[in-house]
Amino acid sequence: MYEAFAEEYAVHAEGGAYNALYDRPAVLGLAGDVSGKTVLDAACGPGFYAAELLRRGARVIGCDQSPTFVELARDRSGGRADLRVHDLSEPLDWVPDGSVDLVLMALAVHYLDDQVALLRELRRVLAPGGALVLSTEHPMTAWLRLGGSYFAEEPVEESLNDEADWPVRMWRRPLTSIVAQFREAGFLIEELLEPRPVPAMAERFPADYARLEECPAFIAFRLVPAPAR
Ligand SMILES: C[S@@+](CC[C@H](N)C(=O)[O-])C[C@H]1O[C@@H](n2cnc3c(N)ncnc32)[C@H](O)[C@@H]1O
Repeated sequence: MYEAFAEEYAVHAEGGAYNALYDRPAVLGLAGDVSGKTVLDAACGPGFYAAELLRRGARVIGCDQSPTFVELARDRSGGRADLRVHDLSEPLDWVPDGSVDLVLMALAVHYLDDQVALLRELRRVLAPGGALVLSTEHPMTAWLRLGGSYFAEEPVEESLNDEADWPVRMWRRPLTSIVAQFREAGFLIEELLEPRPVPAMAERFPADYARLEECPAFIAFRLVPAPAR
């Protein structure tokens, strides 16, 4: 996934409506002030988040399973982030317990088969007072596109791009199940956001703006570790 179309995706995501003017403002807003913090950019892609987090004063570590993305992200962050090729279905052995103030994982959790295991691993690396900010496809939008039952919980294979063959395999599941996984992994929801497009989108991408003002494409969460019972 992604490696086969990594260069094209990077061009698409840099200034595209859904990434630059929708997902990134929402997720960075939930991340809050990152200055002086250690941030793990999980599934960093071509490094748009890593570069912005560095610009905002964070110390950035990160990973992605695509070697091309990691290379692009290293270039984009001027070598100032510790980025490596890593499959998030494997433990983050290179990240010590409690060593990260913020985990940011944008538009990636839905690709993992065992999402609870991944979320538990992200919880392990969080320092006391830390948080996990993530975004994923809004389950209602997935249902509108894919049809069938809203409550279906299954992997779906499709192209990420209507105009090109960008094959991905991702999970669709209802909101109840998404939230249950957070709880199972030991997280509480501090904030839930159904993002609105930023005003600049109205001029640059009017059709996308109109669509996103009617129906959210993504949903984002700020999660915090649940206190031990
Ligand atoms: C939609 S892109 C988002 C990239 C980046 N977070 C952003 O928002 O710009 C999804 C990313 O998830 C990564 N990914 C998917 N499955 C993964 C896995 N098992 N381990 C690590 N990265 C994965 C892909 O390589 C891709 O970079």
